[in-house]
Amino acid sequence: MSNSPTQIQLIQPDDWHLHIRDGEVMKDVLADTARQFARAIIMPNLKPPVTTVDLANEYMTRIRTQLNLLGIDHFTPLMTLYLTDNTSADEVCKAKAAGIVAFKLYPAGATTNSDFGVSDIKHCYLALEAMQAVGMPLLVHGEVTSVEVDIFDREAVFIDQVLEPLRKDFPELKMVFEHITTLQAAHYVRDAATGGKNTLAATLTPQHLLMNRNAIFAGGIRPHNYCLPVLKREKHRVALLEAATSGNPRFFLGTDSAPHSKGAKETACGCAGCYSAFNALGLYAEAFESVGKLDQLEGFASFFGPDFYSLPRNTKQITLVKQAQTIPAELPLGDSVIVPLRAGETIAWSLS
Ligand code: NCD
Ligand code: ZN
Repeated sequence: MSNSPTQIQLIQPDDWHLHIRDGEVMKDVLADTARQFARAIIMPNLKPPVTTVDLANEYMTRIRTQLNLLGIDHFTPLMTLYLTDNTSADEVCKAKAAGIVAFKLYPAGATTNSDFGVSDIKHCYLALEAMQAVGMPLLVHGEVTSVEVDIFDREAVFIDQVLEPLRKDFPELKMVFEHITTLQAAHYVRDAATGGKNTLAATLTPQHLLMNRNAIFAGGIRPHNYCLPVLKREKHRVALLEAATSGNPRFFLGTDSAPHSKGAKETACGCAGCYSAFNALGLYAEAFESVGKLDQLEGFASFFGPDFYSLPRNTKQITLVKQAQTIPAELPLGDSVIVPLRAGETIAWSLS
């Protein structure tokens, strides 16, 4: 590959962390994702959350119905369950048998629709034992929730207070530290001893690779750049970008594209979540190109995720071209509209 290519080919990527919501909204966001990705891990933080296999099956049926209506036959949703204080070992076994790919740990109150989340991880030990035994990964929203802890420190404190003890108690449990935002998390995942086993990974979003916390306050409050975990200082962004582009298979793509209507973002108490699905691959290409590492994009986007989840890699090729695309100011979202990440600005790379 030359130093400044104008197009790149890669095996089709997957999105290992995605919110598509439900109902009318879902149809408007699914097409954006399916245009770029072959598969996506579907987050379970609906209202009410997807806590059982039966609920996940019903949700998957609604997703498949929407995909049919959209005429999309080449996209596979990978279903997850929302871990609660009451998740039983039985439900874990049932989930494994039903093809559920993971459970998601939301500390109660940590983020959007997490009120039914886990109040104390100790309540989940029977379920976690079962997950470890059957080989069911745990996806972790890694922030403590106590109000005394500064919001910018919540991820780093989570590593010491929750993640490290959890990994000691369940050394064989596969875990993904989702949408990491700090140098501490990047180094923790990079350096963690796993006994040569494939037990720890992390996903990285485009916004955390491209922006630091100044982006939330540039010239005024910027609600569309507000997500959780919140953007951090520049030194953290640099560490995340280094991890993503390092070729280390523990780091892979998860957009955390999290649609909220314009009205729900531009208000006195705006929701957390950035909508990056419109041209997520272009955003990642821009991030990788910024450090001259476009050659590392394919591993990050297309190989390391399926390898971690023991799923086959995709075989179809896609092409990204260096052709500036202006992101629309707004996109339809059910009976409302959504403001995508980088609305009204251009992104250098897009899908051909
Ligand atoms: C997500 C959402 O809106 O569902 N929001 C976000 O800011 N990332 C939830 C989450 O992944 O934390
Ligand atoms: Zn998320």
